[in-house]
Amino acid sequence: MDPSDPAYAGQKDYGKAMLAVYDWWVMGVMSRIAWKVDIPEMVEFYREHISTNHLDVGPGTGFLIDEADLPDDARVVLLDPNPNVLAHASKRLARLAPETVEADVLKPLPVEGPFDSACLANVLHCLPGPIEDKARAIEHIAAVLSPDGVLSGSTVLGDSADHNGIATSFLKAVNKRKAFDNLGDSVEGIRAILEASFEEVEVTDAGSMAYFVGRRPKAPLPPD
Ligand SMILES: C[S@@+](CC[C@H](N)C(=O)[O-])C[C@H]1O[C@@H](n2cnc3c(N)ncnc32)[C@H](O)[C@@H]1O
Repeated sequence: MDPSDPAYAGQKDYGKAMLAVYDWWVMGVMSRIAWKVDIPEMVEFYREHISTNHLDVGPGTGFLIDEADLPDDARVVLLDPNPNVLAHASKRLARLAPETVEADVLKPLPVEGPFDSACLANVLHCLPGPIEDKARAIEHIAAVLSPDGVLSGSTVLGDSADHNGIATSFLKAVNKRKAFDNLGDSVEGIRAILEASFEEVEVTDAGSMAYFVGRRPKAPLPPD
């Protein structure tokens, strides 16, 4: 991704060294001491919404896909602007022979759909704000889902959430570096961008984080 792109900062930290410790740091340490989320619950949420014809946007290490117990013949497409992520996750998920697509979710997606499920797990907080600008990610995913397709995901909320001191300090630091751009992200804002692209929307407030589901994608609006 071009370093002048506003989305560059949100994906640039995922180098080989970061990916090697990511599961321990994010799923083990940060989830417990900062976000207060239960990882088995996140895995269960993810399993509930994944299908055997799946698009995963921002797969990171591939941890959640690996935990989903998909059959070996499932179609899995991994989309991420960071080639390190695609290399790491596709190696981990080799038994599923995932397709990899180096692309930015804020641009129309160069993938062959339609997909029955898509996941945007822990990516929205990395995208450049305000939340209205993140709507493009949701629109682009909705456009490649089947009529019964489901988008699910989770994200760290901004200032509106009831964060503890560790979460507040961490968010301040990562927002300053633009690795996260989520201080304005709220449950209401996330609901609004999902409702613009899906007929049925659920957003669940889970303390520092929100879980979301969009079902029945709306027909895309004609280009301006
Ligand atoms: C916090 S990690 C989440 C990884 C994984 N989904 C999980 O929950 O463990 C954020 C992921 O989003 C990706 N990402 C960041 N900006 C992106 C963009 N503009 N388009 C698509 N993916 C992006 C990063 O490269 C990284 O893989």
